Order: sequence, then structure tokens, then C-alpha cells
Amino acid sequence: MQIQPLADGLQVFAPAKVNLFLRILGRRADGYHELETLMAAIDWFDQLTIEPDPSGELSLTCAWATPQLARISEPIPGGLDNLVLRAAWLLRNWSGTRLGARLRLLKRIPAAAGLGGGSSDAAATLVALSRLWRIDCSRAELEQLAAQLGSDVPFFLAPQGAAVCRGRGEVIEPCVLPRRLPLVIVRPATGLSTPAVYRQYRAAASEAELPQLLTALAGVATGPVAHNLLNDLQAAALSLSPDVSQIRAEMNRLPVLAHQLSGSGSAYFAICRSLEQARRVAGHFRQRGAAVVQVAQTLNGGDAANGPHLELRRI
Ligand code: C5P
Repeated sequence: MQIQPLADGLQVFAPAKVNLFLRILGRRADGYHELETLMAAIDWFDQLTIEPDPSGELSLTCAWATPQLARISEPIPGGLDNLVLRAAWLLRNWSGTRLGARLRLLKRIPAAAGLGGGSSDAAATLVALSRLWRIDCSRAELEQLAAQLGSDVPFFLAPQGAAVCRGRGEVIEPCVLPRRLPLVIVRPATGLSTPAVYRQYRAAASEAELPQLLTALAGVATGPVAHNLLNDLQAAALSLSPDVSQIRAEMNRLPVLAHQLSGSGSAYFAICRSLEQARRVAGHFRQRGAAVVQVAQTLNGGDAANGPHLELRRI
């Protein structure tokens, strides 16, 4: 991420993520689930624009980037139901500043998809507003604020493009994936609610292991990647969503490297052998009328001082 001196405002590109591995270790007393998950940020971005508001107000306007995204989504929540405004108020109250800001969010990442769009927007808000308002806060302080907003939010502050996340997802151990993975992501017309998918989850044994996956992702052998991908929420999502089941059945017929659900769904992704294959697979799903189909790649590690996930540009 490149930080420029402040002018009138900032534009932030907030990426989506996929879960390459998600193991549920158990249910906690606070109702959350203890996780071991490998998350990777990808080059599919929401766009957040932040400008100072001399009146001291905090305001947000949101729009979907395409009519298709608007059709398949619930209306974007306004007010404090929106994580972006919650993040802005949290930072403002924590810092004691009375400064205001006008925020505009252009959403390209579908919601209710397990792609972390809302969480990434919230992290982008914390980073950009702390710059705009010149708040002197450490990464650890920002991470604490992020964790109050949602389990996935701290990941988007991490200094590499990927991280192993533990606890309820908020304990971050950044790692670098050895190569950029070409992906196709398919989000059916219907989304899934994260709490509903967690409620449906039933424990099941799996032989997949995270260290083996990390080794496999570094190499060229294809079998071990497929054997060590894991998403413990997938069976629950499949039982709730015929659309996801259909995408999975279709993926099984294609010669992709591996495929699985991202997070709590309903987005489902394939790791492809090349970008060319990813484009062919995307064309295949588009022909079959899938609602949202995206070719993307995992992001590499970047500027450790700022995190690669959030790209800030002066406007
Ligand atoms: O933390 P966040 O607000 O994103 O979580 C949304 C919901 O997902 C929680 O209310 C909970 O039902 C479920 N969840 C969980 N265990 C986690 C993360 C989320 O049960 N580790």
C-alpha cells in the first residue's frame, strides 16, 4: 500500500478474501467457534472514498457497482448497521476527535458470500480515517478496534497478503503464499447468513492439514492441494443452499486444481492451473447463467508498514 501526503481525501481499495483452509476446533462459551483458518486476500476490491467534512458530521453513501449485484443483494444497510459507519464512529469515539468525514462506498464484492467484503470495508475505514484525521495509533490499537467490529476485520490490517487466523478469527499470524493462485469465484443469486451456517455446522473428521496445504501450495504437485483444502462450514452451507450444491457439482466436472466454499458462503471458488484456465472456467459458469463470476488472484505480501490489503490513493 502506498500512502501519499493528505490532500482533500483518500481513496481506498479494500480487497475480498478466500479461506483456503477453515477448521473449526470447537464451540466457545461466548457462542463463537474456535478456528484455525488460512485466509488470502485477492485482487477484487470495494472502493471507499473518504473526504473531510468541516461540519464535523459523519456520513456514508453506498452503491452497488453493477445492476446485477444490486439485484442479488439485500439493500446495503445505512446508519450504524453498516460496518463502515460503525468503524468510523468507533475510531472517532476512541480517539476523542470531533472531526467529520464524508464516506462513499462502491461495492463490487458481493455480500453474504464469505468473501469478507464488509469486514474489509471496515478495516479500510479504520486505516483511512486514522490517516485523514492524523490519529496517532499503533497497529495493535487498530487491531483491537478491528476485532470489536467483527472476527474477520483484523485480517485485513495484516502486513501480508495471507494469514493463519486463530481464536474466533481475530488472532493473526501473517504468512506469505509462495505464489499467486489463479482463482474463479462463483457467487450464486442467493447468499448465506453466517450465523445460520454456523448454527447448521456439525463436527466431522477430516484428514486435511494446514502445514501440508502450505507446503503443497508452494509446489507444483496438484494432488496434495486438493487433499488439504478444507472448509468445515461447507457441509452446512451445502445443506442450506441448493445453489451452492449445484456449483460444487459443476466444479467436480471441471479439471480445476481444487475447489471449495469460501468462509460461510455462498461464494464457491476453484484454484486453477493458470489464469487462462481460470478465464475458461469463468466463461463456462457465465454461459450457465451463474449470478456473479469473477477471475481473481491471491495478493502477494506488500509493504509491511501499511499492509498490502488496503491500497490508499490520494484524490
Ligand atoms: O464476528 P462476526 O460478527 O463476523 O460473526 C458473525 C457471526 O458468525 C457470529 O455472531 C457467530 O454466529 C458466527 N461466528 C462464529 N464463530 C466465529 C466467527 C463467527 O460462530 N469464529
